Amino acid sequence: MSRLIVISNRVSVPKTENASGAQGGLAVALGAALREHRGIWFGWSGQETDSFTGHLDLQRQHGVTTATIDLESQDIDEYYNGYANRTLWPLFHHRVDLTEYERSFGEGYERVNGRFADSVAPLIEPGDLVWVHDYHLLPLGKFLQDRGIRNRIGLFLHIPWPPTRLFVSLPFHERLVEHMLHYDVIGFQSEEWHESFCHYVEKELGGRVAADGGTIEWQGRSIVTRAFPIGIDYAEFVEAGATEVAHRAHDRLRASADGKKVIIGVDRLDYSKGLVERFDSYHRFLTDHPEAAKDVVLLQIAPPSREDVHTYQDIRNTLERSAGHINGAHADIDWVPIRYVNQGYSRAELAGFYRAARVGLVTPLRDGMNLVAKEYVAAQDPDDPGVLILSRFAGAALQLPDALLVNPHSSEEVGEAIATALAMPKEERIRRWQGMIGSVRDEDVIAWRDDFVAALSGPAARAAA
Ligand code: G6P
Repeated sequence: MSRLIVISNRVSVPKTENASGAQGGLAVALGAALREHRGIWFGWSGQETDSFTGHLDLQRQHGVTTATIDLESQDIDEYYNGYANRTLWPLFHHRVDLTEYERSFGEGYERVNGRFADSVAPLIEPGDLVWVHDYHLLPLGKFLQDRGIRNRIGLFLHIPWPPTRLFVSLPFHERLVEHMLHYDVIGFQSEEWHESFCHYVEKELGGRVAADGGTIEWQGRSIVTRAFPIGIDYAEFVEAGATEVAHRAHDRLRASADGKKVIIGVDRLDYSKGLVERFDSYHRFLTDHPEAAKDVVLLQIAPPSREDVHTYQDIRNTLERSAGHINGAHADIDWVPIRYVNQGYSRAELAGFYRAARVGLVTPLRDGMNLVAKEYVAAQDPDDPGVLILSRFAGAALQLPDALLVNPHSSEEVGEAIATALAMPKEERIRRWQGMIGSVRDEDVIAWRDDFVAALSGPAARAAA
């Protein structure tokens, strides 16, 4: 079995025992893959230094070898806060209005990708499979090849790929994608993002997409491109939901709701998650359905994210105003319609909260996949499940057609969906839940990882296996 080298902006060291730790499903799945494949996980330490040293911090934790580097403040400003989160993130989430183009961001992005390549290249041995993650590192495969790496290298993009008409607003867009076309495999969360990428390569770069839609031919190179929809670690999440911590969280939320039905939202505090629009929709529901309103409470958990980026500061301020406004307009002495919480919770606690909530409200304006939707489904009581309201613009909508699919821009539509979900008879809730649980359970993160690693291993390796 080939060794696996995983490269991502952040390295999240997984614990061996899952329990109630704050491990994301991705960390758990990649951690397990790295243990099986004797691999290394490389990335930024999250630490800032005065000047870049290139010092590699190698550690062995919970059976996984991690290798991290610190970045200097200019790197963090230009690469992470700049090009990754002020240029690519908004553009790829259809927010051209928030997208900033600064030459220094692009330069910093390539410089840091070069630093990643310099630091990780000496760790790569012949035969290793190299798996790069996400929008922070799009040119890394090319930069590794420039340093003599001849291994198979794959990229998985965790966020959407924008339509060609939006993407061409990025200065030097050709250069970015030409760099990407040095990977052997490029994976997307959904067929929609995959199609957009192929469309761009054909239209703007003169590449040829094979009739099966899966292989791009460009300048003598063949690149396998496909959708690999990511899932949750179902077994781990169900186990977390069976812990004492989860039961306590469930009971605490139910007791505090005092007989009212709970609607839950759990999102990083990010403008792509549609939180302002969600609050507007809830406001609309409260106004249009006063009889149902007093029996309901919305719990919105939104841990702050990327706080050095001004658009994230703006969205935080806007949401605080909106929650204050709605609560001011509708609250009574013994009832507040929105509980807006900025702290994060462990996975076990979240599993308990999801199970206690009659409605899961997942309404991003654009989202690569959205695993909260899948976690909400996984956490439900099969005999009395809640209802998932899901944005049709999340990758997850393609796999969960039995959710109440909504247009998150329409407060009218989402407001009505909330009313429908709250009034939905048990038989229909069970029928819809049964339509979703199979894909949440079977198309899990382990299947996703194995599928990608098999594609990355290449046809020859697969035939030999
Ligand atoms: C998204 C991205 C990830 C990123 C995560 C948290 O899910 O696809 O690559 O790690 O957000 O964002 P942060 O900027 O805190 O790493």
